[in-house]
Amino acid sequence: MEKKFKRTTVTSALPYANGPVHIGHLAGVYVPADIYVRYLRLKGEEVLFVGGSDEHGVPVTQRARKEGITPQDVVDRYHNIIKESFKEFGISFDVYSRTTSDVHHKFASDFFRKLYDEGKLVEQSTMQFYDEKTGKFLTDRDVVGECPYCHKQAYGNQCEEGCGRALEPTELINPRSKETGETPVLKETKNWYLPLNEYQQWLKEWILEGHKEWRPNVYGQCKSWLDMDLQPRAMTRDLDWGIPVPVEGADGKVLYVWFDAPIGYISNTKELCDNEPEKWGTWEKWWQDEGTRLLHFIGKDNIVFHCIIFPTMMKAHGGYVMPDNVPSNEFLNLEDDKISTSRNWAVWLHEYLVDFPGKQDVLRYVLTANAPETKDNNFTWRDFQARNNNELVAVYGNFVNRALVLTHKYFDGKVPACGALTDYDKATVAEFMDVKAEVEKLLDTFKFREAQKEAMNLARIGNKYLADTEPWKLAKTDMERVGTILNLSLQLAANLAIAFEPFLPFSSEKLRGMLGMETFEWNQLGSTDLLAAGHQLGKAELLFEKIEDSAIDAQMQRLEDIKKANEAANYKANPVKPTVSFEDWEKLDIRVGTVLECERVPKMKKLLKFKIADGLADRTIVSGIAEHYAPEELVGKQVLFIANFAPRQFKNGLVSEGMILSAENYDGSLAVTSLLREVKPGSEVK
Ligand code: MF3
Ligand code: ZN
Repeated sequence: MEKKFKRTTVTSALPYANGPVHIGHLAGVYVPADIYVRYLRLKGEEVLFVGGSDEHGVPVTQRARKEGITPQDVVDRYHNIIKESFKEFGISFDVYSRTTSDVHHKFASDFFRKLYDEGKLVEQSTMQFYDEKTGKFLTDRDVVGECPYCHKQAYGNQCEEGCGRALEPTELINPRSKETGETPVLKETKNWYLPLNEYQQWLKEWILEGHKEWRPNVYGQCKSWLDMDLQPRAMTRDLDWGIPVPVEGADGKVLYVWFDAPIGYISNTKELCDNEPEKWGTWEKWWQDEGTRLLHFIGKDNIVFHCIIFPTMMKAHGGYVMPDNVPSNEFLNLEDDKISTSRNWAVWLHEYLVDFPGKQDVLRYVLTANAPETKDNNFTWRDFQARNNNELVAVYGNFVNRALVLTHKYFDGKVPACGALTDYDKATVAEFMDVKAEVEKLLDTFKFREAQKEAMNLARIGNKYLADTEPWKLAKTDMERVGTILNLSLQLAANLAIAFEPFLPFSSEKLRGMLGMETFEWNQLGSTDLLAAGHQLGKAELLFEKIEDSAIDAQMQRLEDIKKANEAANYKANPVKPTVSFEDWEKLDIRVGTVLECERVPKMKKLLKFKIADGLADRTIVSGIAEHYAPEELVGKQVLFIANFAPRQFKNGLVSEGMILSAENYDGSLAVTSLLREVKPGSEVK
């Protein structure tokens, strides 16, 4: 039996305020959450959409250190950038606050204190690295050293650049503090742990028995955690950025970021309810009432925190409802490569808005069409362009435009009366009436990509209807029939405005204006009575516009440049070869030659053929640098070549009498060696 809920609380992961947000965030969490919330609102359901910035934690302090500013400066800057990006993309939060707010500090602190007072936490002492120079304990990632397995440079928690193994900081050879370079010492420290092990049985029953309907990726991850023995997990840290641990003798300790951040969902709700109690009621209603359904939208790296740790915190505290579902997505890649903030491999939302102003819905559409719901998925700029041009413009926009323009042309923009329906009309209506149930079924089960496809089907039905009935051909002979066709087409366009509202809110708004609809609601979907005969339409404008190749090329070039910059930044010279003796070196005869002639070699696209003045009888040298130099560039230049290199014959009979020396750059490009001053051809290099 489906449980009946009175209201829904939807949370979306609080992004770390240590950088701007990119398409991966949008695709994975915020667009699906927003679609779902808009859908519920349109159905007239009671729903709350909570967001906010996650402003504590090590990533924030690392950013601050890197930029030489305070953590507070970092979060102030990015909270505002992120909040603005979400607003621009129509992510319709009811509240978007932050975990540095006073309300949150107090709420999280009280939450912890209740667990502490009731003996729900266990105290444990461990030995941890400590930097005597700064007087601070070091988190695992603040310690660097040599990996004991592959001997590359590694972090205290993982050997990232080498073998990838998970590590303990104490395993590192020659450990150092990342910040100061000091050798840390081990020092005893006391922290408070949430005994997850005591809740394992309950978690197993609640999730593994009770929520088999969760997405397979979510259920599977939970199962693999719950099949192991859960361990107590520290809820406090020796750090100076965060919420102070509200316990005597806990100076220099703060709440673990994954303890305080999810509580941010609740404290942000409280902030909203305290501000507008008439509208929202009490925060308890949204978190503690049995009639509330709680949903967490997150990315896959957040599953354990939202399915295991946070529920255990709420269970230990008591009084809270448990999440009913946790629709978590997998990851979105960008042009077949993992999105990465540190490598700048991302499409940043604030930058997209500069390059594609007014095209928020296009990105929303493409990200939903490629939503990583069941597996990692890929965003490419070519696909972005194709979906815009072939789907939004050619299907949705085109249909709406034809219906409106024809009505303006034949009926002065007034909705014509609907006459008797033909069998074909009736079949078309029946087809589009099915769409409502189909979209609902998909949205109710969080299948956003399929749901959007189904909404697009409405426009396909409309295009086919107009193409089949050809009202423009009937205009001379049967205006009543033309009226019926356009009436139905306009009703269909009005249906599109409703069906797409959750997905493409800006376009729906625009379409609603063009159709002169005052309001609409989800339950009208499928109706052929949305626009009364005689109703005056607004002006017809284009809903979407074509994206040209040049705009896409510019994005591809930008990514290409980033890739190059990353390769250059990561370049490491090869180790030096074994030592050679002076006698060996003397065997090589390296000389200076002046390029007399240089030309391409027919059918050999890598080769250039040189005539080199060498102070003797001149010589021919063939060199594989045609992809790096145009022949004209080299004529008249002096180059270095090996004069006593054994002659080499090519397939086409060409013989090379020597070898021109080039340096190979990090990216494989070649640079021919030359001299800083001109000398006589044939001069020897010693
Ligand atoms: N900041 C975390 C991340 O980006 C998500 C926090 S979600 C919350 O992965 F539940 F803790 F708020
Ligand atoms: Zn390693």
